[in-house]
Amino acid sequence: MKSPQTLLGHVVAVSGASVSVHLVESVASGLAVIDGSTYRVGQVGSFIRIPLGYQDLFGVVSQVGVSAAPESLQVSLEASARWMKVELVGEAIGTSFERGISQHPNVNDEVHLVTEQDLIRIYGETGIDQVHIGRLSSAENINVRIDIDKLLTRHCAVLGSTGSGKSTTIASLLRAIAASSSDKPLFPSARILLLDIHGEYSDALSDISTVFRINPNKGQNELFIPYWAVDPSDLISFLTGGIVDDKAMHLYDKITELKQKALSKKKYPGVDEKSLTVDTPIPYSLNRLWLELIDAELRTFEGPDRDQPALVTEGDARTLTPPKYKPHAMGSKGPFINTAAPGIKRQLVNLRSRLLDKQYDFLLHPGEWEPDLNGISQKDLPESWLGHQFPITILDLSGVPSQVLIRLIGSILKIVYEALFWSRDKSEGAIARPLFVVMEEAHRYLYGEAKNLARETAQRIVKEGRKYGIGAMIVSQRPSEVDDTILSQCGTFIALRLSNPVDRNSVQGTLPDNLATLMDMLPVLRTGEAIITGEAARLPMRCRVTFPGDAYCPNSRDPVVAKQWSLPRRPESYERVAASWRAQSPRAKVIDTKITRHPVNDDPDKQEE
Ligand SMILES: Nc1ncnc2c1ncn2[C@@H]1O[C@H](COP(=O)(O)OP(=O)(O)OP(=O)(O)O)[C@@H](O)[C@H]1O
Ligand SMILES: [Mg+2]
Repeated sequence: MKSPQTLLGHVVAVSGASVSVHLVESVASGLAVIDGSTYRVGQVGSFIRIPLGYQDLFGVVSQVGVSAAPESLQVSLEASARWMKVELVGEAIGTSFERGISQHPNVNDEVHLVTEQDLIRIYGETGIDQVHIGRLSSAENINVRIDIDKLLTRHCAVLGSTGSGKSTTIASLLRAIAASSSDKPLFPSARILLLDIHGEYSDALSDISTVFRINPNKGQNELFIPYWAVDPSDLISFLTGGIVDDKAMHLYDKITELKQKALSKKKYPGVDEKSLTVDTPIPYSLNRLWLELIDAELRTFEGPDRDQPALVTEGDARTLTPPKYKPHAMGSKGPFINTAAPGIKRQLVNLRSRLLDKQYDFLLHPGEWEPDLNGISQKDLPESWLGHQFPITILDLSGVPSQVLIRLIGSILKIVYEALFWSRDKSEGAIARPLFVVMEEAHRYLYGEAKNLARETAQRIVKEGRKYGIGAMIVSQRPSEVDDTILSQCGTFIALRLSNPVDRNSVQGTLPDNLATLMDMLPVLRTGEAIITGEAARLPMRCRVTFPGDAYCPNSRDPVVAKQWSLPRRPESYERVAASWRAQSPRAKVIDTKITRHPVNDDPDKQEE
């Protein structure tokens, strides 16, 4: 193992975890062939080994050339002087490798190239927790594996400019986890929830996932987020278009009252009437809530004691028709207005128009989860997202209006987190069956100072999810816009090409000082090439992520401009464009239905019925 072929140079100076190495004459920067494998020598990002008796120290090359020499020597050196600066990252005794170092090297110690054999010592070949993600850039015959336990429990971030290969990396990694070896899945109980903001993944992962979408395509399931399961304060601020706290109390009180009534009609295991609060996820009818509250606003009284409701026609909760009362009149005869009304008419008008707005049906009219007026729904909390036959659940959020995206993701994360938090001791809970939540395009919803349910819940997941088996993967092209707390809690970074200096700084800021220089390589990485650092990687490494193959790539391929522009023009109909836009669906069709029109008699007096 200690072949002289691998000798690179000798230690000249040591300062903290940084070591200056003078290269031996025989090392020509370029390729070395050792036991049939080729290695790039003296490249930034490649590994070195310093043997110390029974122990080996391992490090990463961070600088090459004159500037890598100790400062005191630099002035007297020629420009061709051969120096290397190395950051020590771990040590191995026998076959066991550990991050961090307990000893430092001495001046004149030998520095060696790291061979495949050494790396096998570091990674260990067989561990079930090691998932194959790609190959080392400096030695493409060496597989790179990452520790899936650490990736999940310590959370991770996948960062890179647009088009750098984030989505493809995720598709590749998820496939590696969910893949089968000789028809047996590696992880038959894997559980991954993917928030797919652009609807890119359903084709790429179709054989290993179940897709939920608001307007589902063939073979997909409809995504519903029942309003009664989401955070009431957030729901109310959405429904009313903003409301001050003391007025919101009237809505909370009514919700609690309706939940109590529902509970008296149907029992829910685990809930007793005394412990019921406004937050308890029990179905209740929003239509009924609206009618009962608007009734108080519109009611007028008559009679000598001013206590007889002056009702003209009853309202109808089902059709959202308000009741009619005699208009109030000045003077001693009345009718008189209801002085006990809370004064939330404007908010209730807002609530009604939200209930009628089709684009919120996924939340406010959630199919079989929509309760009747008594608060009885056909289905209980949505269990199907997490409990189906495939390891991956894709929530395709591509049709969601952007003004509700944050709220929707916040609600989804909250429902999932609460459900798994409270069921932590059960076999469906996430300690027995951990859950990995992949959040694509995180800068679109995990940001800002103001109240943001998505960011708050994601913060909770990264701060305490580890204890309950919930891990997060934060994916973003603008790391500087993602909430700092969330990013700083990520233990592993998969950093792809990133050119913007502000974004680079935010990645560099999360690394220990001696490794920050590695990130200087970020702007020059190739597509699909990543620097992986942190808990899940035994060593910080530059790696080419496995390309999953065209059939398994997300639908995010770069359009081939020159080729497409050189095709002959086809007939076009921009009606199809408008239809897709209006239907907010790329697959919407304009079908000529060939309707034959007959004249209609609109005069009610002359109609037969
Ligand atoms: N490992 C790889 N090898 C070869 N090509 C790749 C690799 N990874 C990605 N690509 C190609 O790069 C292009 C962009 O990839 P991808 O959609 O994954 O980028 P992205 O970082 O997710 O971009 P965005 O931030 O816009 O979502 C695609 O055409 C894809 O096929
Ligand atoms: Mg992407």
